[in-house]
Amino acid sequence: MNNLNNKKILLIICGGIAAYKSLEIIRLLKKDGVSIKTILTKSGAEFVTPLSITSLSQSKVYQDLFSIEDEAEMDHISLSRWADLILIAPATANTISKLANGNSDDLASTVALASNKKIFITPAMNVRMWEHQSTKQNISKLKTYNYELIGPEIGDMACGEYGEGKMTEPKEIVNKLKIYFKNLKVKNKLKAIVTAGPTREYIDPVRYISNKSSGKQGFEIAKSLLKKGFETTLISGPTNLEINKNINLIKVETAEEMFQSTLKSLPADVAIFSAAVCDYKVKNTSKIKIKKQDEINLELEKNLDILDYVSNHNSLRPKLVVGFAAETNDLENYVNKKLSEKNCDWIVANDVSNKTIGFDSDFNEVSIFFKNKKIDRLKYKSKSEISEELVEKIINHLN
Ligand code: CTP
Repeated sequence: MNNLNNKKILLIICGGIAAYKSLEIIRLLKKDGVSIKTILTKSGAEFVTPLSITSLSQSKVYQDLFSIEDEAEMDHISLSRWADLILIAPATANTISKLANGNSDDLASTVALASNKKIFITPAMNVRMWEHQSTKQNISKLKTYNYELIGPEIGDMACGEYGEGKMTEPKEIVNKLKIYFKNLKVKNKLKAIVTAGPTREYIDPVRYISNKSSGKQGFEIAKSLLKKGFETTLISGPTNLEINKNINLIKVETAEEMFQSTLKSLPADVAIFSAAVCDYKVKNTSKIKIKKQDEINLELEKNLDILDYVSNHNSLRPKLVVGFAAETNDLENYVNKKLSEKNCDWIVANDVSNKTIGFDSDFNEVSIFFKNKKIDRLKYKSKSEISEELVEKIINHLN
């Protein structure tokens, strides 16, 4: 099955010796039935000519932000809306820097900034430029802006040096785009629910019981799901975090509200329960502020377990149910017990006896326990990387 057929790709060619490879990309994409429009930057035009690009792409090359003819035919906003995907190949250190910093002083950077589409960048530069801290920082920024990186590769460079910075081969780039469209096709139909953050169980209108959860891991999981094309609902207790507006965020406070919102958000293909739901709530919450007294007795009652409820009701149960567990001791025993008692498919567990990871940290180290007793250990890394790996496993499972 050809996942590229009838797709529209806007190819941005920047200046660099690797620009000649962009001609081969055009040839391969055309062979697969892709409609291509191209933007050639000023320095790109020093390496490849508009004539060779047009001959291969059978369409006009756009070069100038202020060209009256180009704007009349297709203005720069329409150009970014026309495409299903934007590919920047080769992407120079200069263009990467512009995109990371929101500059828009030429057609390429303006179109990228105005785009609402997935943008792939395939860097190509000298190894020292690639390894420079400023480039590294720019690339990290672009990743958080949802740009997808292809390469660069390690090898001999045109400048005679050796190292990382070589542009990925056209065939490999085209394969990556095929995989992207293939996954998109499958995942567009999939719906995910994530619970995150702590809950608050009110004692009176101004006091509550809660816990240390920051919600960071759950938010990162929601971001990774969105990035992979899931229709994502994030049901979150109070946090200081912000989320992409394409995620359906439902803000809740109490466990009861989280439960009701979860029920309303079902059905889903996958549900990930990462929230640190308070196990207990106050039995008789006071409607007015309680005054200071010598002694106060709070009567607590158990909250309903959302994960347990959803997982054990066949009519509600998503195809894949993932729970979380934070333990200070005897991790494996407790997790296996939770796996079977709560009837979930996987449990993402972390050892919270180590204070540098887990709660409120940007980093985590988790083990994923599966029903069949298999355990995948994800070593110490950022919560965003953990989420990407988890979502990759979810996709493989659902596929
Ligand atoms: N969970 C839930 N609803 C609750 C309580 C927990 O959905 N009312 C979910 C959490 O989101 C998480 C998992 O259940 O996925 C955590 O299990 P839980 O048994 O609550 O863990 P602990 O609170 O650590 O339990 P224990 O104190 O028994 O270890």
